Amino acid sequence: MPNAHITGWGMAVPQKVLTNDDLSKMVDTSDQWIREMTGIRERHIAAENESSASLGAAASFKALKMAGLTPDDVDLIICSTSSPEHIFPATACLIQDQLGASNAGAYDLSAACSGFIYALQSGAQAIKAGDANTVLVIGAETLSRFVNWQDRNTCILFGDGAGAFVLQASDKAGGIQKGVIHSDGSGGDYLTIPSGGSKHPTTEATLHAGQHFIHMNGKEVFRFATRVIVSSTNEVLKKSGWKAEDLRMIIPHQANRRIIDAAARGLELPIESFFMNLDRYGNTSTASIPIAAVEAAKEKRLRAGDKVVLVGFGAGLTWAAMTIEWTGPLLKPFEKHYINADWYKPWAFLRRILKRIIRWLDTFLFDRSE
Ligand code: COA
Repeated sequence: MPNAHITGWGMAVPQKVLTNDDLSKMVDTSDQWIREMTGIRERHIAAENESSASLGAAASFKALKMAGLTPDDVDLIICSTSSPEHIFPATACLIQDQLGASNAGAYDLSAACSGFIYALQSGAQAIKAGDANTVLVIGAETLSRFVNWQDRNTCILFGDGAGAFVLQASDKAGGIQKGVIHSDGSGGDYLTIPSGGSKHPTTEATLHAGQHFIHMNGKEVFRFATRVIVSSTNEVLKKSGWKAEDLRMIIPHQANRRIIDAAARGLELPIESFFMNLDRYGNTSTASIPIAAVEAAKEKRLRAGDKVVLVGFGAGLTWAAMTIEWTGPLLKPFEKHYINADWYKPWAFLRRILKRIIRWLDTFLFDRSE
């Protein structure tokens, strides 16, 4: 059975930065309150022409470039997102189109802030089962589009961004080890966007009631998060036969510094064992773990051979943890294909137009032959 290795990674965040001071001009809050209660200083917010798919595609190009692969090498694209562009088509399909990854199947996965770990587990299972050689796993969010900018309980927390990992099959030891995933739908109403789905389709009344925005019971989510980070980290360590002292680091979902502080106390680990960058990005939901991993690797705090735990929690309720032996590119420099996203994007765009023309011609000729 092949192992699933993480051989490339990339991230993308919008250029626009919204600081706590900016927020204090919009709602009754302050930089001091937000920093003390969450650890967040600023977050990135998507511009009008940016979306979950465009950020996901930008992160994917970087990940593929690092792995030395082209979009044509990808067999499967899994996009974890809670802010898909549409109910359908899947954001993963839009990313597939933007990448020009013409050999890939693509689907979205919805498990909120735990989603990236769920998606990694699915991608690794596809590789281990022999169904795919190369999988692109993406976490992409533009939750700013669902934030009520007049609700100080929630608008201070979230930011936009995307991260992507390339998973490749190899007989080499290491890569993704064990995963644990959990859910408890009885807590679904703690963190929800009540309308816009099939239960409460958007109407004038739902809009008036603000049900298209994120609603959250912060205290309950906080309590749940501190409990499950500890339990799922312990569970996945036990399942892997690893000890906490074997770990190079834990990369937790970047929601709130106080949640991570409490988890460190619960696991009896120094806070330095936890990678954190939530001060600069806020809670980017499913994108937060890959964005943190990309920065940890960039800072050389995460190297090939290191043992790491990813742990996440979020709406659903869902929670998940995973053990990984970090890898890096498998291909030697002379085996790599160096894709240039600036060159590739127009090519993928041209391919999109050609496909539409061929489809139009097909319909036209079919209609005439009827
Ligand atoms: N600025 C200033 N004051 C604020 C505020 C803000 N942005 N938001 C709330 N407050 C006020 C409240 O109105 C309340 O005032 P009161 O005592 O006069 O009524 C006080 O601060 C305490 O509010 P409360 O909601 O009880 O605070 P809290 O201790 O629960 O902290 C959170 C609020 C959001 C920081 C915290 O609940 C949290 O982080 N929860 C987890 C959220 C999360 O991570 N969600 C995503 C999971 S994936």
